[in-house]
Amino acid sequence: MARAEAMIALRRLAALALLVACDAAEVPRGATALDSSPQACARCHEAVAQQWASSLHAHAWDDPLFRREYDGNPAASCRDCHAPPTSAPGRTTGVDCATCHVRDGEVLAVHVTDAGTRAHPMRHEPRLQTAEHCGECHQFAFDDDGIHDPSEALQNTLVEYRGSDAHARGETCQSCHMRATQTGDDAFAGHAFPGLDDPEQLARAVDVDVQAQRSGGSVDVDVRITGADIGHAFPTGDVFRSAVLRVATPGGAQGEIVMQRWLAQTIDPDGEDLHVRTIDDTRVPAPGQGELRERLRLDDAVATELEWELLLWRVPPEHRTARGMDPAELVRVVSRGRARISG
Ligand code: HEC
Ligand code: HEC
Ligand code: HEC
Ligand code: HEC
Ligand code: HEC
Repeated sequence: MARAEAMIALRRLAALALLVACDAAEVPRGATALDSSPQACARCHEAVAQQWASSLHAHAWDDPLFRREYDGNPAASCRDCHAPPTSAPGRTTGVDCATCHVRDGEVLAVHVTDAGTRAHPMRHEPRLQTAEHCGECHQFAFDDDGIHDPSEALQNTLVEYRGSDAHARGETCQSCHMRATQTGDDAFAGHAFPGLDDPEQLARAVDVDVQAQRSGGSVDVDVRITGADIGHAFPTGDVFRSAVLRVATPGGAQGEIVMQRWLAQTIDPDGEDLHVRTIDDTRVPAPGQGELRERLRLDDAVATELEWELLLWRVPPEHRTARGMDPAELVRVVSRGRARISG
């Protein structure tokens, strides 16, 4: 059994830490109660609601990849982030408007206006604009389940961000993931939360530099991948995300570089117990934290040019069959290019 498959099995056993302490919103009953369903908000915030509906947040509870893992071993803790108890019980709207905007029957907002207060009870909440708000779900440790090292992050996006140039410049998660898509008076904070499903967002992530030179019957390929308009490692988020840079000559010689966290069971520093932890991290670090450099050697005596492509996998390719999913659903093309072979 491959390592990552073992990881899947281990994660199924894991009941993750309860990190998001959200009490069910106490909406007063009666005609004036705030209806906190996304459909209700959409009546007056249609454009925002449309963008949100296209986001992975809206599909955090019905996303097929999530369902496969959850249905196999449902843990109550999964709901804390994938369907937080901020709206009606049993709903399937994932991380919805109420998750971020409704507490105690009031709308939390960055701007409280007279028009807004006439439409619904409102409260000023500056925390909405902070990275820590996103970090409530995008930063968490492995559960202390006896299998994993509970001192290690399962998702580490907020910590990666804090070490990035973007943080040093005063940018937040919202600066890159909630950019307004309209301009002028119609502009509003974007709610599509672009990530791996958005080709433009993906294209901003990294710069790839490939230099190739002939060395007798083979080709030396020097690859340098640097974080670009990104505020954390590439890839970030789920531990199963991985990126692969493939290079190939027309004659079929191939090489690849895999970017992911590698987990394995190793002995604790005190030499007493075994825990699953990160033994290597080959991802592209956040800008400000370094870059990825590697040399590949291809056996090809005639090629004068090669092609490369950078792919992002939601789960490593070798597990696509195990999970019964169409590979096309799991892979995204980040960028492609060609390089001349010099010398
Ligand atoms: C009856 C119409 C109506 C409904 C329903 C409604 N809103 Fe509003 N909302 C408004 C109006 C009007 C404003 C004020 C807009 C302005 O001042 O430009 C507003 C303002 C807001 C703001 C602040 C906007 C800003 O500029 O910061 C937020 C956030 C918000 N609403 C969220 C929600 C959420 C979440 C829901 C569903 C629980 C909801 N609203 C339901 C009409 C509505
Ligand atoms: C300077 C811009 C920038 C900042 C700041 C930033 N991101 Fe990103 N983020 C990106 C880009 C570009 C991608 C696309 C690459 C990718 O999907 O891996 C991305 C991808 C992601 C993904 C998808 C990862 C995956 O592939 O599964 C998540 C989740 C995410 N960001 C969350 C956050 C959070 C949370 C913060 C704040 C703590 C944040 N981002 C800050 C630019 C940024
Ligand atoms: C993951 C958290 C999250 C979810 C889900 C979410 N919002 Fe927001 N929303 C925010 C944040 C953060 C801001 C403030 C962004 C800023 O100004 O930096 C915001 C801003 C807004 C604004 C003001 C926009 C503007 O710039 O004028 C409205 C209105 C709003 N949200 C409504 C909604 C509605 C309606 C939904 C559901 C369809 C929703 N939001 C879902 C986090 C969220
Ligand atoms: C209540 C928990 C929660 C909060 C708060 C939250 N997120 Fe998320 N977010 C999720 C979950 C869960 C997913 C993954 C959904 C899935 O794929 O099943 C997700 C997915 C995303 C993605 C898409 C990742 C991809 O792989 O493409 C981005 C980008 C993102 N979130 C950014 C943000 C930002 C920015 C904020 C703060 C404004 C935020 N999130 C706040 C839970 C949350
Ligand atoms: C503390 C918050 C949190 C908890 C608890 C949590 N998740 Fe997640 N999960 C996230 C976030 C945030 C993402 C999005 C990361 C990304 O896009 O890279 C995510 C992504 C995923 C994905 C990948 C979905 C995709 O779009 O590819 C799967 C599968 C998943 N979670 C399963 C689970 C299961 C099963 C549980 C319960 C055992 C669980 N999660 C508990 C926050 C959480």
